[in-house]
Amino acid sequence: MKKIGITLLILAIYSTSAWSQMGGGMMGRSTQQLYPQSYSQEEHDKLDELIRISRGGQLYDNWWKATIDTDKPQKDHPLWKEQSTNNRNGYDTYRCKECHGWDYRGKNGAYGKGSHHTGFKGVYEAAKKMSIKELENVNKRGAQKKHDFTEYIGNKEIADLALFMKKGLIDTSKIVNNEGLPIGGNPRTGSYIFRNNCAHMCHGTVGIGINFGDSEKPEFVGTVAYKNPWEFIHKVRNGQPGTRMPSAIINDWSEKDILDLLSFARTLPKDTSEIGWWGRFRGDMGHYMMHGDYRPGSGRGFGPSLE
Ligand code: HEC
Repeated sequence: MKKIGITLLILAIYSTSAWSQMGGGMMGRSTQQLYPQSYSQEEHDKLDELIRISRGGQLYDNWWKATIDTDKPQKDHPLWKEQSTNNRNGYDTYRCKECHGWDYRGKNGAYGKGSHHTGFKGVYEAAKKMSIKELENVNKRGAQKKHDFTEYIGNKEIADLALFMKKGLIDTSKIVNNEGLPIGGNPRTGSYIFRNNCAHMCHGTVGIGINFGDSEKPEFVGTVAYKNPWEFIHKVRNGQPGTRMPSAIINDWSEKDILDLLSFARTLPKDTSEIGWWGRFRGDMGHYMMHGDYRPGSGRGFGPSLE
């Protein structure tokens, strides 16, 4: 008995000792060496906030797709009647981006003209001046009756949207000019970023791995980067709602990274005519077919699917 008692005592001392934490020499590598050091509370809170900001960005893009338990409105938004220049209807009229723009500047930005024009103002200036609480209230009952989203999304969504507007917006005019051309940017660096983060298993080497349109009117990474750089920037930073696309906000990319990536992505094929038989032969189209289920409309929810 005495012997067992001593052995247990030695084991107990050993397991709490620095020797065991270090891996115990002959015992081999400890789990502490295999996995990164655990986050401090501060780092954890920071990451948590970045996740919430990018979720807010996805809700701004398409709140129905960024959630799994909301109902899709069928009728037009109550404020829609106050404009007559944008002919969309139904759920589209409920997307924050449809009224306030991918560049957050509404009528003063890219949606100042074209089929998306509504004449509604942006949120960029308001987000600078208003507090997070005030930004939350805009989407709640009371402030502007017609702007009440509480019937559709929960308080957590409204809070994440406010956090995104307060901390997640960037001045896109530093990256793209009014014509939609990137201001500077190094396509060569961009190609590295693309290859390391976007190509493998998803968009393919030349960005045609996923078709966001259909076979008649395909839309690839290159199409969006070329035609709507503001949408490109928003989706790269926040991720595509309802898919596993990562977020540059969460991954702490700089605005320069995004500019470089944009300047490269513009050079990628924009439609099928630019792919040619060689591209298909190389397997890019095969890749696209393999990932058909990544196309919009297939998924809802934020981040990795729990299904
Ligand atoms: C149907 C169009 C429409 C949609 C959709 C919409 N808004 Fe608005 N939003 C407006 C209008 C119009 C105003 C009022 C602007 C004013 O005061 O003149 C406004 C005001 C705001 C303001 C305050 C701006 C200010 O300067 O006071 C914020 C913030 C805002 N919206 C955020 C959002 C968010 C977030 C969403 C998505 C959940 C959203 N909006 C969806 C049309 C829309």
